[in-house]
Amino acid sequence: MNKFAKISGIGSYLPKKVLTNVDLEKIVDTSNDWIVSRTGIHERHIAAKDETPSVMAEHAARQALKDAKMNAADIELIVVATCTPEKFLPSTACLLQDRLSVGPCMAFDIGAACTGFIYALDVANQYIRAGIVKKALVVGSEILSRVVDWKDRNTCVLFGDGAGAVVLQASDEPGVIGCKLYADGSHQAILDLPSGVYDNPGVITMKGREVFKLAVTGMANAVQELLAEQNLTIDDIDWIVPHQANYRIVDLVVEKLKFPHEKVVFRMGQHANTSSASIPLAMHSAIQDGDIQRGQTILMAAFGGGLTWGAGVFKY
Ligand code: ACO
Repeated sequence: MNKFAKISGIGSYLPKKVLTNVDLEKIVDTSNDWIVSRTGIHERHIAAKDETPSVMAEHAARQALKDAKMNAADIELIVVATCTPEKFLPSTACLLQDRLSVGPCMAFDIGAACTGFIYALDVANQYIRAGIVKKALVVGSEILSRVVDWKDRNTCVLFGDGAGAVVLQASDEPGVIGCKLYADGSHQAILDLPSGVYDNPGVITMKGREVFKLAVTGMANAVQELLAEQNLTIDDIDWIVPHQANYRIVDLVVEKLKFPHEKVVFRMGQHANTSSASIPLAMHSAIQDGDIQRGQTILMAAFGGGLTWGAGVFKY
């Protein structure tokens, strides 16, 4: 048994190409004003052909390993959260393992859409706490630009590509404190990507308003349950790093939680919604900007296709 699992390193990667709202005005019937006022998004990064999910994951993972002062060969578990895997087979985690030249170890993907990073962190945390491994790589990597309908203004303005990674390591100090995760497959029709062995490659479809409402209540409830379970109050939290889908969703959640707005990490302006990469990308950016500091208590909250939703809390 290990006492705790602590984030010892973090990294991220954004594709070089930036697509602004003004660029989008030339593609669909939309406007910069509409997108900014409804979502808070100003621009998104779009992966080039050679910036595949495993390539972006490799960039983010190498940074995280460097930050943790760890060699890739020391990693015993790789968990990649993605809803846009590079292939059905092998998993993106195995492709990443090969890119990093990690020897035989556990490596697998998790599909929980935009909640994927918290799911992946929770799984790696449990493996470490159970004493099965000591060093894990947890990655979110997404290439949503390949699965949006670029003729549908309801969805194509919302998403972006990127990757974020953390090294999670056995430690005597906290660490991941806990996670509270949920899914409800009965809501599958309101957020769908019908591409699989029974469907031809499709595009994301979404009933935005329905997702919006469920996102607000799901995230706020999960946070409240998690805090109660861990004997914490919202005053114990230094920063909230929410899933970066829409600033209005985040504002409503924060209002329900009575948490100060200036202690919330907002990066959807530059990143847009990168699904499971969104939380580690936002967190890394906030660390680089000097906002999040070592020793602080960080709360994550997310929701996404499935539907899936949940929250997690850790000491950085
Ligand atoms: N530009 C201009 N007009 C637009 C655009 C656009 N890009 N998109 C939609 N509109 C129009 C609609 O057609 C509609 O027009 P109508 O009234 O004539 O029919 C009008 O704007 C208003 O649409 P609403 O649905 O009322 O807009 P709303 O305020 O709900 O905002 C949005 C839409 C941004 C999608 C919001 O509902 C939302 O963010 N929902 C959550 C979605 C989300 O975050 N999904 C990600 C889940 S993550 C995952 O798992 C992949």
